[in-house]
Amino acid sequence: MSFDKTVTVALTGASGIQYGLRLIECLIQANCRIYVLMSKPAKVVMGMDTDQPVPARTSDVQSDFSERYGAKPGQLFAFGQEQWTSPVASGSGAPDAMVICPCTTGTLASVAAGNCNNLLERAADVVLKERRTLIVMPREMPFSTIHLENMLRLATAGAVIMPPNPAFYNLPETIDDLINFVVARVLDQLDIDQTLMPSWGSDQVNPDNAD
Ligand SMILES: Cc1cc2nc3c(=O)[nH]c(=O)nc-3n(C[C@H](O)[C@H](O)[C@H](O)COP(=O)(O)O)c2cc1C
Repeated sequence: MSFDKTVTVALTGASGIQYGLRLIECLIQANCRIYVLMSKPAKVVMGMDTDQPVPARTSDVQSDFSERYGAKPGQLFAFGQEQWTSPVASGSGAPDAMVICPCTTGTLASVAAGNCNNLLERAADVVLKERRTLIVMPREMPFSTIHLENMLRLATAGAVIMPPNPAFYNLPETIDDLINFVVARVLDQLDIDQTLMPSWGSDQVNPDNAD
């Protein structure tokens, strides 16, 4: 089975795991291979943010998400935080991109400091050193100067910082609309075709609209 891209989706314990879950669903539909990394706090927050069953073990993450989102055989793999033999731990197995979605301020700080104390941190470190795309989606309110400095540090190292900030000019009616707005922008960054949200101005190509 061949896949168009390989993307690591890291789910951490910030509110908004719905963004990461929708991203996984869209990446499966876009024929990407997906590596899922899920911190323990992400499971706690998933239980509070959603009414979905929370996968207890890493093998449950793989089987639950594969079944729920219709992954093909060999399309979705989940790795535990100590699974150092997994491909994401090494530059030679690095994916095309990694998205930390949502990203806690704790994980933000660890990645900005170059920590590799768990597989998620190591995977992000590898993506940066291999000059692949790292998208970091920090969620906190307000941000302290420490958070902002960590974001600047990562942006300077080449990461894309995308706090999950939905817009309202598309007149969202449901929570799904807000989630889709954010995930559409992530897919745009990954250069993956998406139909969740048209790009800005795509309905304005007719010169008759100029006046
Ligand atoms: C319900 C709930 C919501 C949370 N929301 C956030 C959040 O939005 N942003 C954040 O940085 N931490 C948040 N936290 C705290 C993190 O889960 C906590 O700092 C954890 O240690 C992060 O670990 P991780 O980065 O390995 O997932 C939340 C915790 C809970 C229980």
